[in-house]
Amino acid sequence: MTVETSHEHTAAAAGATGPRRLVVLGPQGAGKGTQGSRLAQRQGIPAISTGDIFRANVGGGTELGRVAKGYMDRGDLVPDEVTVAMVADRLGRPDAADGFLLDGFPRNRAQAEALADMLRRLGVALDAVLHLTLSDEQIIRRLSGRRVDTRTGRVWHVESDPPPPDLVAQGVVVQRNDDRPEPIARRLEIFHAQTAPLIGYYADAGLLVTVDGDGSVDEVADRVAAALRLS
Ligand code: AP5
Repeated sequence: MTVETSHEHTAAAAGATGPRRLVVLGPQGAGKGTQGSRLAQRQGIPAISTGDIFRANVGGGTELGRVAKGYMDRGDLVPDEVTVAMVADRLGRPDAADGFLLDGFPRNRAQAEALADMLRRLGVALDAVLHLTLSDEQIIRRLSGRRVDTRTGRVWHVESDPPPPDLVAQGVVVQRNDDRPEPIARRLEIFHAQTAPLIGYYADAGLLVTVDGDGSVDEVADRVAAALRLS
């Protein structure tokens, strides 16, 4: 199974054109994880989700996880110094040398500037920033219906992609702690105050590619491929 997956990755990478160093930006639930993982697979590059790394550390009971948990459960950002150090470490690994897709980072101006410094040190630059849009009404619908497999990280949605009932009954597929009304409201507030200004920052840099995140997963994936001119 693992061998097949890595073979598919290599095949995708060999024939892939288009951007190889990407950031995916957008409000909570816009589909950054859903579209980002598809896009990364298609391009043969690692999808690096800061949220997934934090959740893995919370699940594994590490020191990083203990620090991050309280912020995440409230819907607050984990402090920049913690997040930036974690991303710098991840981008320095060999599998990111030939490309990467960052999902959930940067989320504010300080993180965007830290990323620019990291890339400068590595001697590389971003190719594109994919900005997925979605209305607040759709965001709330997507987040409140999201369910996650605690073993694999696989994401489901109770309406559009329902999880297997036995996995829900066994407590393997659960709702994220921050997908409850209060943390959702807090996350959206932070997005509008701190992350949305990065849309202008990356537009000024000539990197922004905006795609409507409403519609089915396949429809949005087709729009992303067309907007990024993927082969
Ligand atoms: P993170 O995990 O990054 O959460 P988020 O930004 O809130 O983004 P989401 O994962 O909620 O949404 P998504 O856009 O990936 O949507 P998805 O594809 O899953 O961060 C969590 C926390 O970690 C933060 O609050 C913070 O505390 C911390 N953190 C992370 N990064 C940080 C940073 N840089 N600095 C500081 N702290 C940081 O889709 C959502 C649902 O919709 C799913 O159920 C999916 O199945 C469904 N869906 C997706 N697309 C469609 C579609 N087209 N049609 C129907 N359903 C769809």
